[in-house]
Amino acid sequence: MNRFAFIIHPIEAEDIARKFPAARWFPLPWVERAASYLPPLVASEIKGVRSATGVETEGWFIGLPLSSRLFFELPETRVIEKIIRCARIAERLGAGIVGLGAMTSVVGDAGITIARNTRIAVTTGNSYTVAAALQGLFWAANRLGYDPHRTPIAILGGSGSIGSACARILARQGYDLVLAARRREKLEELRERIKAETGKDVLVTTSIKEALQQADLVLAVTSALDAVVEPGDLRPGAIVCDVARPRNVSKQVAAVRDDVLVFEGGAVEVPGEVDFGLDFGFPPRQAYACMAETMILALENRLEPFSLGRDLDVDKVEEIARLAEKHGFRLAGLRSFERALSEEELDRVAERARARRRAAASLRRDAQGATSQALASRSRQEQEQEQRAHGAEALTATVPATDTVK
Ligand SMILES: NC(=O)c1ccc[n+]([C@@H]2O[C@H](COP(=O)([O-])OP(=O)(O)OC[C@H]3O[C@@H](n4cnc5c(N)ncnc54)[C@H](OP(=O)(O)O)[C@@H]3O)[C@@H](O)[C@H]2O)c1
Repeated sequence: MNRFAFIIHPIEAEDIARKFPAARWFPLPWVERAASYLPPLVASEIKGVRSATGVETEGWFIGLPLSSRLFFELPETRVIEKIIRCARIAERLGAGIVGLGAMTSVVGDAGITIARNTRIAVTTGNSYTVAAALQGLFWAANRLGYDPHRTPIAILGGSGSIGSACARILARQGYDLVLAARRREKLEELRERIKAETGKDVLVTTSIKEALQQADLVLAVTSALDAVVEPGDLRPGAIVCDVARPRNVSKQVAAVRDDVLVFEGGAVEVPGEVDFGLDFGFPPRQAYACMAETMILALENRLEPFSLGRDLDVDKVEEIARLAEKHGFRLAGLRSFERALSEEELDRVAERARARRRAAASLRRDAQGATSQALASRSRQEQEQEQRAHGAEALTATVPATDTVK
């Protein structure tokens, strides 16, 4: 049996405090820093992953006690050394492949240096994350009655590893896209690449708010540490697939916008009676797609660097989606801010979304009506002014100026 390992880390400082109750007595930034001095450890054993083909695999979670924020604040080489130490633990345990989760796949060159420094295969899991995110977005669009060909799709973090692969796949399929990130030159590079690959023009912007104003469907995949989507940014009835960890969408959205659907992208059901040996906030037998990619490769006996670096091979996204299906991995039901969404809740969101979109459309029509009336009345006034001016010109042309008369 092939075995796998997957590296996990606390997403926020609060996650460390939850794990170590004594930490509650200390300030969070202190706890966050103190934890970063702890060595990586075997967090749990994973048992019972059983493919639909009957093949089995098991593995380990390796815990790196580093919050997302510290991945950016500590020197990059130090962070990468820590991840290499995790991969070496996996190697010693007998894993044939190790997967990188959340910020461990974002830091540095997205796994390349880590792979060079270990003897076992390394994968970021990003190919299956792309496949699962797109499946989720289309499932939700269909459920809420949207035709994805009739609205641009916004990709926040569109120039990143996951975002750019999503963009290239969607552009191939003819969808209209708005890509947002901070660095314009990366976005422009991708825009030209997509044009060359598909002939399609995509819009790019360095303003997330601007991107959100143009799209009803949104894929949020930035590596931002804090929320980048606030309640007022979203169009009426928008659907947001938030793949990012930490989340890109502010919790406020759930409290204030009952007409939008925000769900966690990249959650999948794992086949078999799987026991992860620890609680990472998901219902039983569900995992992140990046974890699942590592399991699929172990089941398929493909102990290879399947997804590495920021330039994903889009054919591999299709391949891993096929392999996932073969082994019985499925998209999980939709969850929003740690809560499963029932069919009734989805119906209610769909109804409110339709109502808000109708109201917004009627407001737009009224505004357009008012604007055209204003334009019509302005042009009447302008015409009258012009006529008066022409009359005056004609007068000055026929009546000589007073001093000329003199
Ligand atoms: N759910 C899952 O199963 C799963 C699996 C893997 C990864 N993830 C998560 O997915 C996210 C993206 O991963 P990745 O590997 O694609 O990362 P990446 O390659 O580093 O790309 C990040 C993208 O976000 C943009 N960005 C970063 N900060 C931003 C900000 N403040 N405002 C706007 N854009 C910003 C970056 O461009 P600029 O730097 O130019 O802004 C880039 O386009 C991460 O949060 C990661 O943890 C989730």
